[in-house]
Amino acid sequence: MNWIEEYRVKRKSQFSTVTIFQTRDPKRLQEFVKSVSQEYAEIYGYIPWRGLMRIRVSKNAMIYEKTGGSSIFSQGARGIEAALDYMDDVFLRGQSILFVIQTHTRSDALTQALRTWMFDDDIYFRNNSICVFTENPEQVLDDETLKYAILIKIPPSTEEERRRILDEIVASFGNKFSYDEKIVKITAGMTLHELESVALESIYRYRKIDERALIKFKYDMIRKAGILDVEEPEFGFEAVGGYEILKEFIIENIINIFSAPEKAQRLGLRPPRGILFFGPPGTGKTLIARAMAKELGLPFLRLRTESIVSMWYGETEKNLARAINLAEEIAPCVVFIDEIDRFGRRGYEHETTRRVFSMLLEWLGDMRRKSIILGTTNKPQHLDDAFIRVGRFDYIIPVLLPDEAARRQILEVHTKVVRKVPMKDVDFEGIVKKTEMFNGAEIEELVLRAARNALRNGRDFVTNEDFEEALASFSINPAEREKVIEEYLSLSEIYCNDSKFLKKLSRSVISRVEALKREID
Ligand SMILES: Nc1ncnc2c1ncn2[C@@H]1O[C@H](COP(=O)(O)OP(=O)(O)OP(=O)(O)O)[C@@H](O)[C@H]1O
Ligand SMILES: [Mg+2]
Repeated sequence: MNWIEEYRVKRKSQFSTVTIFQTRDPKRLQEFVKSVSQEYAEIYGYIPWRGLMRIRVSKNAMIYEKTGGSSIFSQGARGIEAALDYMDDVFLRGQSILFVIQTHTRSDALTQALRTWMFDDDIYFRNNSICVFTENPEQVLDDETLKYAILIKIPPSTEEERRRILDEIVASFGNKFSYDEKIVKITAGMTLHELESVALESIYRYRKIDERALIKFKYDMIRKAGILDVEEPEFGFEAVGGYEILKEFIIENIINIFSAPEKAQRLGLRPPRGILFFGPPGTGKTLIARAMAKELGLPFLRLRTESIVSMWYGETEKNLARAINLAEEIAPCVVFIDEIDRFGRRGYEHETTRRVFSMLLEWLGDMRRKSIILGTTNKPQHLDDAFIRVGRFDYIIPVLLPDEAARRQILEVHTKVVRKVPMKDVDFEGIVKKTEMFNGAEIEELVLRAARNALRNGRDFVTNEDFEEALASFSINPAEREKVIEEYLSLSEIYCNDSKFLKKLSRSVISRVEALKREID
């Protein structure tokens, strides 16, 4: 059902004269007026800066009339109060009157008027209708008004609409340009107005409807909203050293299913959409999340936990709601929530935090959710049970300290893959042995320190001595780290929800712990 149809049905079934349309597209108001114009005897519009106007629709064009016999029209952008007073009279004398209002700011006068009109029998039975078009209903109207009005969310655009706009643009250039279906897909979440301006800009700039330009625009749009950062990850699993069991698990259970969803569907399965990584700091959880997005070929949206947590008093929820909408608009995508325990902390009593927490929970559990949520935490034991409950996260996966093979590969990654470090006579095996307790981040740091040593010694290649010197500069307490390994191993037994994965993992970790113990003894 399209949103205009939805309006017709709800007008008939709900006793309310006020409808709120949520949209950030200024063209929706026009589209609405054009489609319903036959159903109303008179149409009035209030648009900021232009003021109150009579509207006629003729040959599918909207005509604004500023001269309606009253001085209010000639005064154009006069305040909304006068316009509302005027409409009060219009409603009293006429029937089948449509009044459309576009607004972005809160106004007491508007709230007052809507409240009076909303349950007015007379207005209702005369088939008069008041329609407000706004981007942020919660900001513009108060809760009470919102509760009793008809609320309709207009999608930014459908594929069909985007095709139509693109066809129009192509035709207007005498069919000199073309576009393909991929463009229709990647522009999901754009309003028609946005699509039109960015496609035209791309034509003037690059002489074509350029995919890159459209994607860039879309990402900028999301960044501007301030709650999500969009990244296009540079590296996939090739930049994650080691963790073979983990990578294999992700490929089998997530990536393969995601890239061939029909197979899963035939078995009544949907691709996994919620994954939680936990483990000690610096073990590559964030890195793995990014790499996973790259492997899936999806954009990576990082929820700016820090800005969400620091905003209080209603802002937080509004912003999170906005972020959720945006993410769903551009889905499939990966939404990354770092330190998810900041939201889902057990026993957190602050009201906003609680509400944000329940919004996240609802999103996680939403059957219709199209985005993949990846969360990380160092402290799964602090998470509220509701987060952990079955159905919220498909997989809860530990990322522990790297074993010997992983450390070797992490060294390789940081000297040969993500950066190329010229080396001479470096004893990799020796370093691997001497970094028993290091995490991935520390191994990366070790490479950087070694390179700095080489620079200081006036060389343009790194030697084994540079590494030895760097190794000596780390102070890592083996006994403490061993405790960390054991702690996370037992956390894995509690929280990891895939026993096969856990078994494989434990086997490798336990043999390592035993080897370590022998060494310490
Ligand atoms: N397995 C790995 N392979 C290659 N690099 C790694 C690996 N693990 C960690 N690193 C390096 O360490 C950096 C920090 O790791 P990352 O931020 O992913 O750790 P984390 O587990 O998310 O830590 P925290 O819990 O503190 O957020 C990475 O950007 C990467 O350069
Ligand atoms: Mg991290």
